Amino acid sequence: MLRPQGMVTLSLGATDRKDAWWLSPLLFAIAFGGFSIYATWAAWQNEFYRFGPYLSPFYSPLLKPEWLPPWLSPAFLILGAPLGFRLTCYYYRKAYYRAFLLDPPGCAVGEGKPSGYRGERAFPFILQNLHRFFLALAILVWGILVKDTVEACIWDGQFGIGLGTLVMMVNVVLLGLYTFSCHSFRHLIGGKHDCWSCLTFGKQRHTLWRGVSWLNGRHMQFAWVSMIWVGLTDVYIRLCAMGLLQDSRLF
Ligand code: FES
Repeated sequence: MLRPQGMVTLSLGATDRKDAWWLSPLLFAIAFGGFSIYATWAAWQNEFYRFGPYLSPFYSPLLKPEWLPPWLSPAFLILGAPLGFRLTCYYYRKAYYRAFLLDPPGCAVGEGKPSGYRGERAFPFILQNLHRFFLALAILVWGILVKDTVEACIWDGQFGIGLGTLVMMVNVVLLGLYTFSCHSFRHLIGGKHDCWSCLTFGKQRHTLWRGVSWLNGRHMQFAWVSMIWVGLTDVYIRLCAMGLLQDSRLF
Protein backbone atom coordinates (compact mmCIF):
# COMPACT_ATOMS: atom_id res chain seq x y z
CA MET A 1 0.00 0.00 0.00
CA LEU A 2 1.39 3.41 -0.88
CA ARG A 3 1.66 6.02 1.82
CA PRO A 4 -0.99 8.72 1.27
CA GLN A 5 0.37 11.95 -0.12
CA GLY A 6 1.29 14.51 2.51
CA MET A 7 1.72 11.87 5.25
CA VAL A 8 4.66 12.74 7.48
CA THR A 9 7.28 10.13 8.32
CA LEU A 10 7.88 10.15 12.07
CA SER A 11 11.31 9.28 13.39
CA LEU A 12 11.62 6.00 15.25
CA GLY A 13 9.76 6.14 18.56
CA ALA A 14 8.31 9.62 18.02
CA THR A 15 4.78 9.87 19.40
CA ASP A 16 2.33 12.08 21.28
CA ARG A 17 1.25 9.15 23.43
CA LYS A 18 1.72 9.70 27.14
CA ASP A 19 1.10 6.10 28.28
CA ALA A 20 3.77 3.38 28.67
CA TRP A 21 3.26 2.07 25.11
CA TRP A 22 6.77 0.57 25.16
CA LEU A 23 6.05 -1.74 28.10
CA SER A 24 4.09 -4.38 26.22
CA PRO A 25 6.68 -4.83 23.40
CA LEU A 26 9.46 -4.89 26.01
CA LEU A 27 7.76 -7.60 28.08
CA PHE A 28 7.07 -9.60 24.94
CA ALA A 29 10.70 -9.32 23.81
CA ILE A 30 11.94 -10.56 27.20
CA ALA A 31 9.40 -13.40 27.54
CA PHE A 32 9.40 -14.63 23.93
CA GLY A 33 13.15 -14.12 23.59
CA GLY A 34 13.74 -16.06 26.83
CA PHE A 35 11.41 -18.86 25.77
CA SER A 36 13.09 -19.12 22.35
CA ILE A 37 16.56 -19.36 23.92
CA TYR A 38 15.42 -22.00 26.41
CA ALA A 39 13.55 -24.04 23.74
CA THR A 40 16.58 -24.00 21.42
CA TRP A 41 18.88 -25.08 24.27
CA ALA A 42 16.50 -27.85 25.36
CA ALA A 43 16.13 -29.11 21.79
CA TRP A 44 19.92 -29.30 21.39
CA GLN A 45 20.41 -31.35 24.56
CA ASN A 46 19.18 -34.62 23.01
CA GLU A 47 18.86 -36.13 26.51
CA PHE A 48 16.74 -35.93 29.66
CA TYR A 49 13.53 -35.59 27.65
CA ARG A 50 12.00 -38.75 29.10
CA PHE A 51 11.17 -39.76 32.63
CA GLY A 52 9.11 -42.92 33.19
CA PRO A 53 6.07 -42.56 30.92
CA TYR A 54 6.58 -38.79 30.58
CA LEU A 55 7.84 -37.32 27.32
CA SER A 56 8.80 -33.67 26.92
CA PRO A 57 6.49 -31.82 24.49
CA PHE A 58 9.60 -30.44 22.77
CA TYR A 59 10.40 -34.00 21.62
CA SER A 60 6.91 -35.19 20.70
CA PRO A 61 6.28 -37.00 18.43
CA LEU A 62 9.60 -38.74 19.08
CA LEU A 63 10.99 -39.58 15.63
CA LYS A 64 14.31 -41.36 15.36
CA PRO A 65 14.83 -42.49 11.76
CA GLU A 66 17.92 -44.56 11.04
CA TRP A 67 19.47 -41.84 8.91
CA LEU A 68 19.40 -39.36 11.79
CA PRO A 69 23.01 -38.65 12.84
CA PRO A 70 23.61 -39.12 16.59
CA TRP A 71 24.62 -35.48 17.05
CA LEU A 72 21.29 -34.23 15.70
CA SER A 73 18.48 -34.07 18.22
CA PRO A 74 15.13 -35.58 17.10
CA ALA A 75 13.49 -32.43 18.47
CA PHE A 76 14.63 -30.59 15.34
CA LEU A 77 12.58 -32.93 13.16
CA ILE A 78 9.31 -31.79 14.70
CA LEU A 79 9.81 -28.32 16.16
CA GLY A 80 9.05 -26.68 12.79
CA ALA A 81 5.32 -27.37 13.20
CA PRO A 82 4.71 -25.63 16.57
CA LEU A 83 7.29 -22.96 15.74
CA GLY A 84 5.68 -22.18 12.38
CA PHE A 85 2.25 -22.14 14.02
CA ARG A 86 3.36 -19.58 16.62
CA LEU A 87 5.41 -17.45 14.24
CA THR A 88 2.53 -17.11 11.76
CA CYS A 89 -0.11 -16.62 14.51
CA TYR A 90 -2.01 -13.34 14.15
CA TYR A 91 -1.33 -12.36 17.76
CA TYR A 92 2.39 -13.22 17.67
CA ARG A 93 2.79 -11.38 14.37
CA LYS A 94 1.52 -8.16 15.91
CA ALA A 95 3.65 -8.70 19.00
CA TYR A 96 6.97 -9.50 17.34
CA TYR A 97 6.57 -6.93 14.58
CA ARG A 98 6.44 -4.41 17.41
CA ALA A 99 8.95 -5.94 19.82
CA PHE A 100 11.68 -7.12 17.44
CA LEU A 101 11.16 -5.34 14.12
CA LEU A 102 9.86 -2.04 15.59
CA ASP A 103 7.58 -1.98 12.57
CA PRO A 104 5.89 -0.06 14.10
CA PRO A 105 6.93 -0.14 17.79
CA GLY A 106 3.31 0.68 18.75
CA CYS A 107 0.07 2.27 17.58
CA ALA A 108 0.66 5.91 16.60
CA VAL A 109 4.39 5.56 17.26
CA GLY A 110 6.91 6.47 14.57
CA GLU A 111 8.80 3.66 12.88
CA GLY A 112 11.36 5.84 11.13
CA LYS A 113 10.85 4.38 7.69
CA PRO A 114 10.31 6.58 4.65
CA SER A 115 7.61 4.69 2.70
CA GLY A 116 6.88 1.51 0.75
CA TYR A 117 4.65 -0.35 3.18
CA ARG A 118 3.50 -3.49 1.42
CA GLY A 119 1.80 -5.32 4.25
CA GLU A 120 2.11 -9.09 3.97
CA ARG A 121 1.77 -9.22 0.18
CA ALA A 122 5.45 -9.59 -0.68
CA PHE A 123 8.26 -11.95 0.32
CA PRO A 124 9.07 -12.83 3.06
CA PHE A 125 5.91 -11.78 4.92
CA ILE A 126 3.62 -13.33 2.33
CA LEU A 127 4.65 -16.63 3.93
CA GLN A 128 2.46 -15.66 6.90
CA ASN A 129 -0.43 -16.90 4.75
CA LEU A 130 0.77 -20.43 5.48
CA HIS A 131 -0.84 -20.12 8.90
CA ARG A 132 -3.90 -22.22 7.99
CA PHE A 133 -1.59 -25.10 7.01
CA PHE A 134 0.37 -24.77 10.24
CA LEU A 135 -2.99 -24.93 12.02
CA ALA A 136 -3.59 -28.37 10.51
CA LEU A 137 -0.13 -29.50 11.69
CA ALA A 138 -0.70 -28.00 15.14
CA ILE A 139 -3.97 -29.91 15.55
CA LEU A 140 -2.13 -33.11 14.58
CA VAL A 141 0.68 -32.42 17.08
CA TRP A 142 -1.90 -31.56 19.75
CA GLY A 143 -3.58 -34.94 19.19
CA ILE A 144 -0.19 -36.65 19.66
CA LEU A 145 0.38 -34.71 22.90
CA VAL A 146 -3.03 -35.92 24.12
CA LYS A 147 -1.89 -39.48 23.38
CA ASP A 148 1.37 -38.83 25.29
CA THR A 149 -0.66 -37.61 28.25
CA VAL A 150 -2.83 -40.73 28.24
CA GLU A 151 0.35 -42.83 28.12
CA ALA A 152 1.71 -40.81 31.05
CA CYS A 153 -0.98 -42.56 33.16
CA ILE A 154 0.56 -46.00 32.56
CA TRP A 155 3.45 -47.00 34.83
CA ASP A 156 4.87 -50.45 34.01
CA GLY A 157 1.49 -51.59 32.74
CA GLN A 158 -0.39 -50.21 35.76
CA PHE A 159 -2.62 -47.16 35.89
CA GLY A 160 -1.11 -44.35 37.93
CA ILE A 161 -1.03 -40.59 38.15
CA GLY A 162 2.05 -38.64 39.07
CA LEU A 163 2.53 -34.91 39.45
CA GLY A 164 4.13 -35.00 36.00
CA THR A 165 0.91 -36.49 34.56
CA LEU A 166 -0.99 -33.48 35.90
CA VAL A 167 1.63 -31.12 34.46
CA MET A 168 1.19 -32.79 31.06
CA MET A 169 -2.63 -32.66 31.36
CA VAL A 170 -2.57 -28.92 32.03
CA ASN A 171 -0.21 -28.58 29.07
CA VAL A 172 -2.59 -30.22 26.58
CA VAL A 173 -5.55 -28.25 27.94
CA LEU A 174 -3.72 -24.94 27.53
CA LEU A 175 -2.33 -25.89 24.12
CA GLY A 176 -5.84 -26.96 23.09
CA LEU A 177 -7.27 -23.61 24.20
CA TYR A 178 -4.57 -21.80 22.24
CA THR A 179 -4.98 -23.96 19.13
CA PHE A 180 -8.78 -23.94 19.01
CA SER A 181 -9.04 -20.21 19.71
CA CYS A 182 -7.03 -19.58 16.51
CA HIS A 183 -8.50 -17.01 14.10
CA SER A 184 -8.09 -19.44 11.19
CA PHE A 185 -9.93 -22.14 13.12
CA ARG A 186 -12.79 -19.72 13.83
CA HIS A 187 -12.95 -18.94 10.12
CA LEU A 188 -12.99 -22.64 9.33
CA ILE A 189 -15.74 -23.36 11.86
CA GLY A 190 -18.04 -20.76 10.38
CA GLY A 191 -16.51 -17.31 10.36
CA LYS A 192 -16.69 -17.37 6.56
CA HIS A 193 -20.51 -17.80 6.55
CA ASP A 194 -23.06 -15.01 6.81
CA CYS A 195 -26.27 -17.05 6.72
CA TRP A 196 -26.52 -19.75 9.39
CA SER A 197 -30.09 -20.74 8.62
CA CYS A 198 -29.03 -21.53 5.02
CA LEU A 199 -26.56 -24.17 6.23
CA THR A 200 -27.01 -27.85 7.02
CA PHE A 201 -26.92 -28.17 10.82
CA GLY A 202 -26.80 -24.36 10.87
CA LYS A 203 -28.06 -24.08 14.47
CA GLN A 204 -25.47 -26.49 15.83
CA ARG A 205 -22.69 -24.90 13.79
CA HIS A 206 -23.68 -21.48 15.00
CA THR A 207 -23.47 -22.69 18.61
CA LEU A 208 -20.04 -24.15 17.92
CA TRP A 209 -18.91 -20.95 16.22
CA ARG A 210 -20.07 -18.89 19.19
CA GLY A 211 -18.05 -21.12 21.50
CA VAL A 212 -14.95 -20.76 19.33
CA SER A 213 -15.58 -17.00 19.13
CA TRP A 214 -15.57 -16.86 22.94
CA LEU A 215 -12.22 -18.66 22.97
CA ASN A 216 -10.97 -16.44 20.17
CA GLY A 217 -11.58 -13.33 22.28
CA ARG A 218 -9.04 -14.72 24.77
CA HIS A 219 -6.50 -15.90 22.20
CA MET A 220 -3.69 -13.63 23.40
CA GLN A 221 -4.00 -14.88 26.99
CA PHE A 222 -3.99 -18.51 25.79
CA ALA A 223 -0.93 -17.77 23.66
CA TRP A 224 0.97 -16.57 26.72
CA VAL A 225 -0.02 -19.20 29.26
CA SER A 226 0.35 -22.10 26.83
CA MET A 227 3.84 -20.91 25.82
CA ILE A 228 4.97 -20.58 29.42
CA TRP A 229 3.45 -23.91 30.45
CA VAL A 230 4.93 -25.90 27.57
CA GLY A 231 8.35 -24.63 28.69
CA LEU A 232 7.61 -25.53 32.33
CA THR A 233 6.49 -29.03 31.26
CA ASP A 234 9.88 -29.60 29.63
CA VAL A 235 11.64 -28.18 32.71
CA TYR A 236 9.70 -30.51 35.03
CA ILE A 237 10.39 -33.68 33.01
CA ARG A 238 14.03 -32.65 32.48
CA LEU A 239 14.66 -32.07 36.19
CA CYS A 240 13.04 -35.42 37.06
CA ALA A 241 15.13 -37.20 34.40
CA MET A 242 18.30 -35.54 35.73
CA GLY A 243 17.47 -36.71 39.24
CA LEU A 244 17.22 -33.14 40.51
CA LEU A 245 13.49 -33.37 41.26
CA GLN A 246 11.42 -36.13 42.82
CA ASP A 247 8.19 -36.82 40.91
CA SER A 248 5.36 -37.29 43.40
CA ARG A 249 3.18 -40.30 42.68
CA LEU A 250 -0.38 -39.30 43.59
CA PHE A 251 -1.86 -42.80 43.14
S1 FES B 1 -4.23 -16.79 14.99
FE1 FES B 1 -2.98 -17.36 16.66
S2 FES B 1 -2.78 -19.49 16.38
FE2 FES B 1 -4.00 -18.89 14.66
